[in-house]
Amino acid sequence: MHTKYKFNPENKLVVLTGAGISAESGLKTFRDNNGLWENHNVEEVATPQGFRQNPKMVWRFYKDRYNQLKNVKPNPGHYALVDLENYLQDNFTLITQNVDGLHLVAGNKNVLEMHGSLRKSLCSKCNTYYDMESIDLDVPIPRCERCGGNLRPDVVWFGEIPYFLDEIELKLRSADFFMVVGTSGVVYPAAQFLQLAKIFGTNTIGINLAAPENVRLLDEFHRGKAGEILPQLVKLWTN
Ligand code: APR
Repeated sequence: MHTKYKFNPENKLVVLTGAGISAESGLKTFRDNNGLWENHNVEEVATPQGFRQNPKMVWRFYKDRYNQLKNVKPNPGHYALVDLENYLQDNFTLITQNVDGLHLVAGNKNVLEMHGSLRKSLCSKCNTYYDMESIDLDVPIPRCERCGGNLRPDVVWFGEIPYFLDEIELKLRSADFFMVVGTSGVVYPAAQFLQLAKIFGTNTIGINLAAPENVRLLDEFHRGKAGEILPQLVKLWTN
């Protein structure tokens, strides 16, 4: 393992993760054969129109995914990012496209879940948020306690605007390093962060099983499994 970088606690690092970092925890990525959508059409289960047309089916899909999380644990890739946050403290920001919540379970604190979380839901009428844990999932369509509206999973669907975009841009502007882990780099706007980081003059690092679409924008690229590579790199960067 070779890296040209070394971090000191003054360095500002922004990390973007995708489904690949959770693959070694046993979760399927989106764009592999037999990916997460399985027998479902993306339009059916991951768009606001799909939810309006068949809320029961969409809820069934997300309840299954939420229940699946009960048997899933963070892997060494997630824990390496906790070590990195402990080292860099407030200079560390973790943006994730994942909705599995595993970064928070692992112990990362400064986490921006830009595509929402399977562990939460919100009212489609009055926007009240609920922890999945606290709502009755035995009914086909859970309802809002406050206004009676249909709850929906707190997952950002295609055609919706991801969370924290302003904050992410500010973080990218001031970052010294930007690292992408386990993402194919094809879904916007996250796919654009690497371009932005290059424009801002940030050092860019990538870790992925296969070269991502935007590999040419990476100053340093490590091919392989995040759970194997990240712990080694974090040791080299922080010792
Ligand atoms: N370690 C590192 N990378 C891995 C590993 C691993 N163990 N396993 C797979 N990968 C890589 C794959 O090579 C692929 O490039 O992770 C990437 C996963 O890509 P996608 O399946 O496209 O997932 P992601 O980039 O997170 O998708 C982005 O698309 O459907 C939407 O909203 C959904 O957040 C998701 C977004």
